[in-house]
Amino acid sequence: MENRPQWGTRAGFILAAVGSAVGLGNIWRFPATAYENGGGAFFLPYLFALLTAGIPLLVMEFTLGHKYRSSAPLTFAKISKGKEWLGWWQLAISFVISCYYPVIIAWASSYSIFSFNQNWGSDTEGFLFGEYLKLAETPGDFGGLVPGVLIPLILVWVVTLGVLFAGVKRGIEAVNKVFIPVLVIMFTIIVIRALTLDGAAQGLEAFFKPDWSKILDGKVWVAAYGQIFFSLSIAFAIMITYSSYLPKKSDITNNAFITGFGNSAFEVLAGIGVFSALGFMAAQQGVPVAEVVSSGVGLAFVVFPQIINEFPAFNGLFGFLFFGSLILAGLTSLISIIETYVAGIQEKFNISRTKAVAIGGGLAAIASLLFATRGGLYFLDSVDYFINTFGVTLAGLIEVLAIAWFAKELKNIQKHANDLSDIQIGTWWRICLSVITPIVLGYMMFDNLRTNLTSEYGEYPREFLFNWGWTVALGAIFVGVLFSIGRKKKEESLASSNKEVSR
Ligand code: PHE
Ligand code: NA
Repeated sequence: MENRPQWGTRAGFILAAVGSAVGLGNIWRFPATAYENGGGAFFLPYLFALLTAGIPLLVMEFTLGHKYRSSAPLTFAKISKGKEWLGWWQLAISFVISCYYPVIIAWASSYSIFSFNQNWGSDTEGFLFGEYLKLAETPGDFGGLVPGVLIPLILVWVVTLGVLFAGVKRGIEAVNKVFIPVLVIMFTIIVIRALTLDGAAQGLEAFFKPDWSKILDGKVWVAAYGQIFFSLSIAFAIMITYSSYLPKKSDITNNAFITGFGNSAFEVLAGIGVFSALGFMAAQQGVPVAEVVSSGVGLAFVVFPQIINEFPAFNGLFGFLFFGSLILAGLTSLISIIETYVAGIQEKFNISRTKAVAIGGGLAAIASLLFATRGGLYFLDSVDYFINTFGVTLAGLIEVLAIAWFAKELKNIQKHANDLSDIQIGTWWRICLSVITPIVLGYMMFDNLRTNLTSEYGEYPREFLFNWGWTVALGAIFVGVLFSIGRKKKEESLASSNKEVSR
């Protein structure tokens, strides 16, 4: 472990952390979430969630990584016996996500090329489901691989695994140092153009107009916390892994603030861009903005192509910039999520980085083929929903409980962070993690369970959701426990090395 890789520069680490945080969630999830949960008024719960949960958790995960200099499973094992499974569970969740995330990047790659001639025509929905995805009739049908998706998917894997093979500094850091600035520039160009389109003002008005009547609605607060967790890549083991490559002398708390605010800045920027564009489209079609608001796959691959169609000039270029932004934002997040289990496998089985990338990435690449079949979109939709609601959220809850309540580690972490950082964290930080975050996450879990036990997500058939939702989410826990077996004997020595580290 002496020759653990290290980031070359502080900026390199921050860019990598921001690269992980800034993903599809910023571009296609935040704008509609804010709009539906009070518009301008949403910024209050959102900021509250960022300050009471997002940044405190980032500080915690950055400190854990820095202090124990290990992947997530070994970090938890070092904290106390019997917690290793939690790390493996997070890695299993990350593995699942890394199987479908590249498929979306593959779609974006195809669409970046389609942009130049607007191959999607005027019926963008028909094109997406029919011509491009060749979507099967019934959820659960596989129906063979779709070459139009498979080819870009292979390319995405070649690039991603290539970066991971190259290592932390020469691969991950180098790529983020280029991709993130380029992403910000590309995206800013689109936002500026969108702002100057006819109708942009109405779009922005819809986005920013505060609906204070929603502020007392519990759902709005849950949405704010949900967005913050997902958006900051917390409880995926990512930030623990990335901060385990920090040099000994590194500021922790300041880095967490920069990462947190950097990610949110990009979300607000995306909100402005997306709603300007939606306002433009509404004006073109002579309908209210409310009628064209959408998110996720629909926003990116159905609505945006329509917007590109109606652009006054340089349609191809702006389409390319938009889908190019999705590709860059997606790739940097994908790389971070794969790195979590690459590091985990490498440590657990004592193999080289190259082997760990080949085995872990190779398995994910094979599994990703499922989502390149004609039934791919259905599988993706269900797996994505369940692994986030019953994977990430639950793992996040158990993580804070394990650290704050069971291991009683918060004071040690606080001291470790304060010794290194300019900004000092105090009692409020411990209250955020031991009280506020568990209450919100606990309520979120309860609410999610109730919703999903009384109704079928997406109106899919029960059997389909059982196979491609519940089983996957619960399977991740099982895999986590399975992988943690077999370290028992070493734990004694781990506990003693732990004492050395904390000195
Ligand atoms: N933080 C990413 C986003 O906002 C989500 C993500 C998390 C993606 C972890 C990959 C891995 O889109
Ligand atoms: Na994000």
